[in-house]
Order: sequence, then structure tokens, then C-alpha cells
Amino acid sequence: MKNLNIALAKGRVASAAMKLLIDCGCEFPDYSKESRKLIFHDKKNNIKVTLVKSPDVPVYVEKGAADAGIVGKDILLEDKADVYELVNLNIGKCDMCVAGFADKKPDYSKKITVGTKYPHITRDYFNKLGVLTDIIKLNGSVELAPIIGLSDIIVDIVESGKTLEENGLVVHEKMFPISARFIANKVSLKTKFEEIQWVIDSLGSLVERDE
Ligand code: PRP
Repeated sequence: MKNLNIALAKGRVASAAMKLLIDCGCEFPDYSKESRKLIFHDKKNNIKVTLVKSPDVPVYVEKGAADAGIVGKDILLEDKADVYELVNLNIGKCDMCVAGFADKKPDYSKKITVGTKYPHITRDYFNKLGVLTDIIKLNGSVELAPIIGLSDIIVDIVESGKTLEENGLVVHEKMFPISARFIANKVSLKTKFEEIQWVIDSLGSLVERDE
């Protein structure tokens, strides 16, 4: 009986992460991609999975509301939560990119306006390049920003590239690759070491198998 509470990012990572946990031997009979349920219990291993908005996963884990979590590296880099990052799960793969109109690459010698859900990542990136920025924090549909003249470019994750393409935008620069990570609360890793180690070993061997 493991008695573990895992917070899992809703959205693009959720179904692949649930599949990994099922491949580890967990059973979630009432889970389906279409379900609107937010909590799932695996009675076999006593693991509870809570589906939360991706930026909330590190918050749940850092505060101990969850012992562990599965969330994208983009969120971990943006929020810098005080948690242990334990396994690269190689799911939810995409790239953090600078994007905009193909024929309107901005002049980096002048101040540029950037629309993004990731203001810290954006600031760090352009600071390193010595580019002055005005960063506009958005919460979604970031591709709209250059189209409506809110920003010169955007910084966002690109997976298939479909959203950019269908909105007439292109990747200007790939910044770095992203994938989902298994993270743990620092106290839980001590108090529930065996339980968390079981998940690390099980997930780790699945990831190696798929590589
Ligand atoms: C993300 C991201 C892009 C899109 C990229 O948005 O912000 O808009 O997915 O995926 P693609 O390259 O496969 O098209 P998300 O779907 O999370 O929705 P949001 O805009 O509401 O944040």
C-alpha cells in the first residue's frame, strides 16, 4: 500500500502520463480522456492522482498538497518551485520557441515587445542576448498577440506547429526542448522514500524501454 498523492498536469501531458502510470501497474478504471473527473484512485497500489492546471502542479508539490507530480519542464523553468526533479519522462515533447511573422523578424538592436505565457523564461533568454524587451504576460492563445498588433513576436511552446501555421506565423528561433518530468515534494521524498522510489524505478524502466 503506497498511499501516494500525485498531481498531474491537465491537458497535453495528462493522457500520456496516465498511460505511463497504468503501465507501471496502476489501475484507474474510471479514467478516460473524455472524463471531467479530477481525482482518480488506484486501489491496487493506493495511489491517488489529482488532475490540476499545469502551473499549479509545482505549487501542489512544493506545498505538500501532493507528494509528487508530473508536469512539463516549461512550467518548472518558469516557476522555479522548490521541489526535486527526478525523472525525465520523455512525454509531452515540444520546443520553447520565438515565433512571429516570417517577413517581420524584429530588429534586436531596438526594444521589442514579446507576448508570452512565460515572462521569466522570456526575460532570461533576451537578457542573455542583450536585447531590450517589453514583455506582455498572456494566459493563452498567445498567437493572437502579433496578429492584433499587441506584440512584435511571441515566446511559446510549439509541438506540432499547427497553431502557428494556421495563424500565419513561423518559428524564428528554437530556444530549448521541453518534456514532462516526475517531481517530488522534498519532505515526502524522505517520509515516503520507498513509495516514491517505486514510482521512479517503474517510470524510469518504462522511459528506458521507449528510448
Ligand atoms: C499551446 C501553445 C500553443 C499550442 C502549440 O497552447 O501555447 O498555442 O499549444 O501546439 P501545436 O504546436 O501542436 O499547435 P494550449 O493548447 O496549451 O492552449 P492555450 O493557448 O490556451 O494555452
